[in-house]
Amino acid sequence: MLILGIETSCDETAASVLEDGQKIHSNIVLSQSIHRDYGGVVPELASRAHIKTLIPIIRKALEEANVSLRELEAVAVTFGPGLVGSLLVGLSVAKSLAFSLNIPFIGVNHIEGHIFANFLEHPYLKPPLIHLVVSGGHTQLLYQPGLGQYRLLGQTLDDAAGESFDKVAKMLQMGYPGGPEIDRLSMEGDPHYVKFPRAYLEKGSLDFSFSGLKTAVLNYLDNFTRAKIHSRLADIAASFQAAVVDVLVNKCFLALSQQNVQRLAVAGGVACNTQLRKELKRRACDNEVELFYPSPLLCTDNAAMIAAAGHFHLEHGQRSSLDLNAVANINLESLLQESPRSFH
Ligand code: KG4
Ligand code: ZN
Repeated sequence: MLILGIETSCDETAASVLEDGQKIHSNIVLSQSIHRDYGGVVPELASRAHIKTLIPIIRKALEEANVSLRELEAVAVTFGPGLVGSLLVGLSVAKSLAFSLNIPFIGVNHIEGHIFANFLEHPYLKPPLIHLVVSGGHTQLLYQPGLGQYRLLGQTLDDAAGESFDKVAKMLQMGYPGGPEIDRLSMEGDPHYVKFPRAYLEKGSLDFSFSGLKTAVLNYLDNFTRAKIHSRLADIAASFQAAVVDVLVNKCFLALSQQNVQRLAVAGGVACNTQLRKELKRRACDNEVELFYPSPLLCTDNAAMIAAAGHFHLEHGQRSSLDLNAVANINLESLLQESPRSFH
């Protein structure tokens, strides 16, 4: 089955042609650069940019795949969670295409898309699994007992991990998105230079909180001149990164032991982080846990992962109706409970 995947939930305009849920014929991602001047995503500008670029990106995906519109057998698109204005652009284009080509259309939950990035990258990967989805908009730990089944174990109570990277990078006067810059700079820094707080919340909790860490960095920076901060930039960045990584890694392994699972899959933009991968590998090796993460292009927002999740649902006979709306906040569990309404 040839599926066109479309992703416009935030500031990436993406389209992909995927065959049989596994073979990526094309995976085109355009990261909007207009937000750099603002140090974060401006929703209004994001929607307008999607309107301008989505059709050319879809054309490019079809061209690269050497597939014509008429050969497409289904369209999969992110319908939430994300920025409603941005989601609506992708949804409207996907519905129009499906309607005019008379092919099935399926709305995909963005989080499930990130989860499917690992199944795309590692075709032999099988549940039971613990998933850490860690990006600019989400930080969630999920238990997956079987294909298409998810239980939310914990999530951030305030900022997402990637958001904290972006906000701290802004405080340190680095560019946007801040995660990759902090990652690079931290390689030259001392992670023990400042002991920033780690929020573990109550004993056994798998929820996260990163807003206190962000405030701690802000308060720390207030004590020093710009010149002093600049001279210790790498050390400060590495110390902040270590605080995020420690919490993420410890909670992953707590989830694995609570659920008695030996397989961990990490996805989302922050899954590119060098130190996070290093620490996860070390702990996985010590605990005989199998660790999976996608290649960088499949970690950050892309449409191949959306097409892969869409393929799974289509194969199971699910379809979305053309009145499917964009949803700003929706978690995977509630999507499944509401499935008779979303799919028919
Ligand atoms: O998955 P993604 O493209 O979009 C969302 O669904 O949010 O993730 C983007 C986030 C940004 O916050 C970015 O700073 C972060 O992922 N990120 C990183 C790295 N690469 C991207 N954070 C830490 N280290 C990285 N290497
Ligand atoms: Zn994402």
